[in-house]
Amino acid sequence: MKFFIDTAEIEEIKSLSELGLVDGVTTNPTLIYKSGKDFREVIKEISSIVKGPISAEVTSIKSQDMIDQGIELAKISNNIVVKVPLTADGLIACKKLSSSNIKVNVTLCFSASQALLAGKLGATYISPFIGRLDDIGTPGLNLIKDIVNIYNIHKQDIKTEVLAASIRSPLQVSQVASAGAHVATIPPNIIYQMIKHPLTDVGLATFMNDWKKTGQKF
Ligand code: G3P
Repeated sequence: MKFFIDTAEIEEIKSLSELGLVDGVTTNPTLIYKSGKDFREVIKEISSIVKGPISAEVTSIKSQDMIDQGIELAKISNNIVVKVPLTADGLIACKKLSSSNIKVNVTLCFSASQALLAGKLGATYISPFIGRLDDIGTPGLNLIKDIVNIYNIHKQDIKTEVLAASIRSPLQVSQVASAGAHVATIPPNIIYQMIKHPLTDVGLATFMNDWKKTGQKF
């Protein structure tokens, strides 16, 4: 399973890359806003740090504008994936860009039927937002399970990868992994939470203390 990092913060991307945990990066207009940086500049910088797929989202809602922006974004680096919303216009852009060999991540997916459409139209990734579904009392994990199941049944026709997005906890990461998601895009703080366990800390403190008591040097 691949780990993408859901951020446009360069320092976070660099630190997690050193840990070997960054297979790719996803961004969206909100994350670009939070970074305070110029959109093209930050995407260019990220793509020079991470060799894996970098999702950069279009900022228009009309299909032709999305296609034009997607072509522009794809010129920034050969690892750019163009993110388009799951709307009729977004699907038109998905088909056009995908058939021009530009990778597409269809975002803001909240139903299995939406995911089926993106799969049929050649999306490279579908991004179901599980946290936002959980927020409104609909289990996001069930959506991941449904999409994985549909794509598996139709794997001869559908090559799209399930990219679990809107992840808010370490538990969700392990759950989407169990459900068969190909990718999880994870905010940096959740990666750090995944590393930590209180019993690891307690166990390590005991081992270090007992080692000191042996009086040995190594
Ligand atoms: O990148 C899209 C997605 O991961 C956003 O997550 O937390 O804003 O719902 P969130």
